[in-house]
Parts: sequence; C-alpha cells; structure tokens
Amino acid sequence: MDYKTIKDIKFKDQVVLVRVDYNVPMKDGKITDNLRIRASIPTLEYLRDGKAKKIILISHLGRPEGRDKSLSLAPVAKELGKLIPNVSFVDDVSGPDVEAAVENMKDGDILLLENLRFFEGEEANSDDFIREIIDATSAEIYVQDGFAVVHRAHASTNAVANHLPVYAGLLLEKEIINLSKVIESPARPLLLIIGGAKVDDKQPLIEKFEKFADQIVVGGKIAADGYKASGKIFVADDFDEDSEGNRLDVGPLSTGKIAGFIADANTIIWNGLMGKAEDPAYATASTIVAEMMGEKLGADTVVCGGDTTGFVESLQEKHPNLKYSLVSTGGGAALEFLLGKELPGIAVLETK
Ligand code: 3PG
Repeated sequence: MDYKTIKDIKFKDQVVLVRVDYNVPMKDGKITDNLRIRASIPTLEYLRDGKAKKIILISHLGRPEGRDKSLSLAPVAKELGKLIPNVSFVDDVSGPDVEAAVENMKDGDILLLENLRFFEGEEANSDDFIREIIDATSAEIYVQDGFAVVHRAHASTNAVANHLPVYAGLLLEKEIINLSKVIESPARPLLLIIGGAKVDDKQPLIEKFEKFADQIVVGGKIAADGYKASGKIFVADDFDEDSEGNRLDVGPLSTGKIAGFIADANTIIWNGLMGKAEDPAYATASTIVAEMMGEKLGADTVVCGGDTTGFVESLQEKHPNLKYSLVSTGGGAALEFLLGKELPGIAVLETK
C-alpha cells in the first residue's frame, strides 16, 4: 500500500480518533449482523496494545434527520463491549459531556461518541463540525477504518484531513489490498458473479468487468426478471419456482454451469445472492456458490454486498472450514472501489 497505516504511527501516548463504520443492520433495537463491529477489533487492539492513550470512536448509523433515539449508537457500544473490554459511550459528539467523558478515560480505554449524522455538519463535510469533535476529544491522530463509508465526502471522512494526519486502519488496509488485487492484477481466469435484485446498481460493474473479466455470471432476481446479455456473460436461464410461478432461485442446470465456472476460476468476485436465500427452500444456488468459493483455498475470493456477506457469514458459522480472501464490509464503497472511482475517504490518507 502507498498509504500510511497505523503501523507507521510512532506511539507516544496520543489520543486517537478512529472513524469506524458501525452502520449495522438492526431490528427492534437489536443488531442483526455485527460483521462491521467485529471487523473493527483488530485495529482497536493494535492501537490499545501499541499504547495509544485514549481511543475515541466515531460513526454514523442509518440516515437520521436530526437526533433520533432509534438510531442512537448506544446499543452498538454495548455490542462492542462484548468483543473488547473498557468500552464506554457518550450521547454527544462534542461539548462538555464529551470533554468530561474523555477526561475520565484511563489509558487504553475506548469511547464511542453518538451518531455523527444527528448533526448537519457531518454530511455537509463541515470543517467547523469536525474541529469541534477534535477540540472536545483533544485528538492528535486520526485513523480511517470505516471502509464502508469512504465513498462519502463527509466531515468525518474528508474534512477531517484538514486538521489531523490521516492513517489507514487495518480493516481499511485489508479491504484496499484485496480489492485492488482483483482489479489490478487478478490471477486468471477472473470470474464475476452478480445476483440480487437491483439491476441499476450492478449494471456499471457488469459493464466495467465485461472489458477485463474472463467470465461473468448473472443470477438472482436480475436474471429471473429476464436480463439480456451476450458474449462472456452467462445469464441463468432455469429457475426454481414457487406454486405461483415466481422464479425464486437459480435452477439446477444453470447452477451446474456456474459451478463449472467457479471450478475453473482463480479469482472470483461475488456480489448479490442467486435467489431468495433468506428462505432455505430457495437458498440452494447461493449455498453452492458460497461453498465452492469458500473451499477454493488457492484462489482469490471476494464477497461483497450486505445480503451476500450476511449469507456467507451465517454459512461459515455452520461450516467454519469455509474461507474467503475478503468478506467485504463495504456495500456501496466496495462497488465504487471495484469501479475504480476515487473515493473521498481514501484520497485524504497520508501517502508514504
Ligand atoms: C453503508 O452502509 O453502505 C455505509 O455505511 C454508508 O451508508 P450511507 O449509504 O447511508 O451513506
């Protein structure tokens, strides 16, 4: 990597401000997938063990308009506290309560601030807003580890660089290294597997990869809805249906063909489920793709998109032998990275 990471920090008791992406899915106030929280732990442990004096975490959750109790990061702090000790939470991002909370921290403690998007300055990429956070926390170093939000030019991803040196965290480094490899120097054959429902989100990726992938597969609802393509794009064309004729999973013939492409490939990027996989009756094709990829240990295997990564992770709970080069925490960010776009949260990293 050309960017400075936390491994380049010379620790001398600094207060470190870390941008994480704890925008996790929640249902009835409960976190339903904690991948993004778990994925932040290596950086937090590295900072703590490297003797950062205080570790202050900032994140957004959802898309609130003003303060919204249902989108408080308090439950996230609780979940984080189960994974790493000495976590506390303060329900503001600057001002006296934050100053007092920081003052009370002991060496190596972790403090999560409230949802950044409760305040207009965050999405307005406001210098004043991030300055207030830095002043209240006395932060001296900034670490970007929220890969999933680096495609946003917000105060905590972009304007912050006008005030503090910006280092990449270990999660950001891992995402950049793995995603760069598959677009810059992929081991061939390179296979892209696209599924899910939103064709408009996926079309730019299909068009970009048409130029340099060896094989593209389109499955999921996109294929079931009659996606038209030719050449190196294979569109699934048989489906498992429910009693009303709804095409809810890629069928056995197409799944067999996709399995053949996976067997041949040395790099596989997968974004989007093959069917309505939340219903086990229609999870067969997605399970076969996930298992074949997870068993291909010599290949570079990248899984991205929230539904797909959630599916793969729940399969890994049952079958821990399944391994992937990267289960990306980024949804939109991973797609934009794969499209080769410059991302505002990466553009501001210190270079070596
Ligand atoms: C995501 O979940 O993709 C990121 O957290 C970014 O969230 P946003 O799309 O609301 O900016």
